[in-house]
Amino acid sequence: MFRIVNKQVQLLSPAFNWLHQDIHSHLLPGIDDGSPDVATSINLVRALSEAGIKKFICTPHIIGDMYRNTPATINTALNTLQQACITAGLEVSISAAAEYMMDDYFLSLLRSKAPMLTLSKNYLLTELSYAAPPSNLEEMAFEIQTSGYIPILAHPERYIYLHRNRKFYDHLKDLGFLLQLNLLSLTGYYGKNVAKAAEFLIKNKLIDFTGTDLHHANHLMALTAPDSLRLFEKYFSKEYFNNFEERMT
Ligand SMILES: [Fe+2]
Repeated sequence: MFRIVNKQVQLLSPAFNWLHQDIHSHLLPGIDDGSPDVATSINLVRALSEAGIKKFICTPHIIGDMYRNTPATINTALNTLQQACITAGLEVSISAAAEYMMDDYFLSLLRSKAPMLTLSKNYLLTELSYAAPPSNLEEMAFEIQTSGYIPILAHPERYIYLHRNRKFYDHLKDLGFLLQLNLLSLTGYYGKNVAKAAEFLIKNKLIDFTGTDLHHANHLMALTAPDSLRLFEKYFSKEYFNNFEERMT
């Protein structure tokens, strides 16, 4: 909650206290294109905590030809960050899962029954290539679910090839994907067309979850800008947000 006094935003309570848990972030140090080191991670976690986010599920990328993270690499980075948070006196809860690119490597992990890192219960965070959807998306969706997982697709609003094919969002839902919106998409951070797609998805009640997808300090600044806080206040009423909470617990 906030109020405007002399054109200045005054926070009446932490800006993100409605976002009880951030289910998508790249705060673990040194294992993907997110935070490069522990000191940066601590600065980001401290700032997010002061803004009202106290629970984080860190979701480093797993991409076959770029970031072949494993439960071991992710849990080692998680332990490092958890210890650093204790040392820094930060009262936050940090756990880890992963953001799985739906590529051939992902399919091989599923087929070999490799242990997958889930957000909560059997929710698996996935993403698509920004260049083009995989030709075997239907097969992927089927294999994810027959392996016992519920797929969540990260930032559907950011795939430009879907902007002219909005019926594809319904197709994704029909395939069993839950959809996770990036908060920054609403602000125009990723461009006007992404913002329009984000509004479309919210207005058509296609979004199941939100997340920061925070990688670095620029994301933090954009998230906490007064205009962004106004937008989040507009879209994420308590009633709407409660739907997200109920599904994750
Ligand atoms: Fe991400």
